[in-house]
Amino acid sequence: MANDLEKEGAARASLKYIKDGQVVGLGTGSTAACFIRLLGEEVKKGLQIRGIPTSVRSGEQAANLGIPLTTFDECQQIDVTVDGTDEVDPQLRLMKGGGGALLREKIVASASKQYVIIADATKHVPVLGKFPLPVEVIKFAQALVSKRIAALGAEVTLRRNSDGSPYLTDEGNYILDCHFSKIRGADGLANKLSDMPGVVEHGLFINMASVVLIADGTKVIELKR
Ligand code: A5P
Repeated sequence: MANDLEKEGAARASLKYIKDGQVVGLGTGSTAACFIRLLGEEVKKGLQIRGIPTSVRSGEQAANLGIPLTTFDECQQIDVTVDGTDEVDPQLRLMKGGGGALLREKIVASASKQYVIIADATKHVPVLGKFPLPVEVIKFAQALVSKRIAALGAEVTLRRNSDGSPYLTDEGNYILDCHFSKIRGADGLANKLSDMPGVVEHGLFINMASVVLIADGTKVIELKR
């Protein structure tokens, strides 16, 4: 409950980054859903923006709220993206993908002039890794990539739906949840994963966040890179 109020507070604080006429990246997850809801209210009041969603579900939520949407086919530059995170460390490195949308999230982030992260206080950690690192892999390579990531010191599990079937991303890939417990060399690990054949994308977002808004109780702390 306290988390929900913090999520709402961080989402509300991010609205100051949104201006008329902008193309806005729409994140995924419960915190990003708060932002999309508040953005929908602003659109109803007259704010003119176009959104690019990072997942099918965020796109559906935005469309239901009357937020006009666009795609990379029409527009390859995003003014500002607002998204949540699973963890953020003191260097503003992020771990993302708990909601399974890390691939589209990273693509949208990479095309954004400003990348604003909103989070409740539980997401602010001294070292990344308590949350399992999501890695999106093509089905063909799943077992091989699992073994290679396990050799880096992680306990690796294939993400599954409640009926036991493998979870599929919006792009039809699998997710490996990699439990490292503490990731001391996040930059090096990110490079190793990016170089691994069969890995489509991983949830370490290094040097990407421009601003992180962390709600702690009723106050919102703004951290800039
Ligand atoms: C979605 O794939 C994720 O990257 C989310 O942004 C992240 O899991 C945070 O989600 P919550 O806001 O629901 O905690």
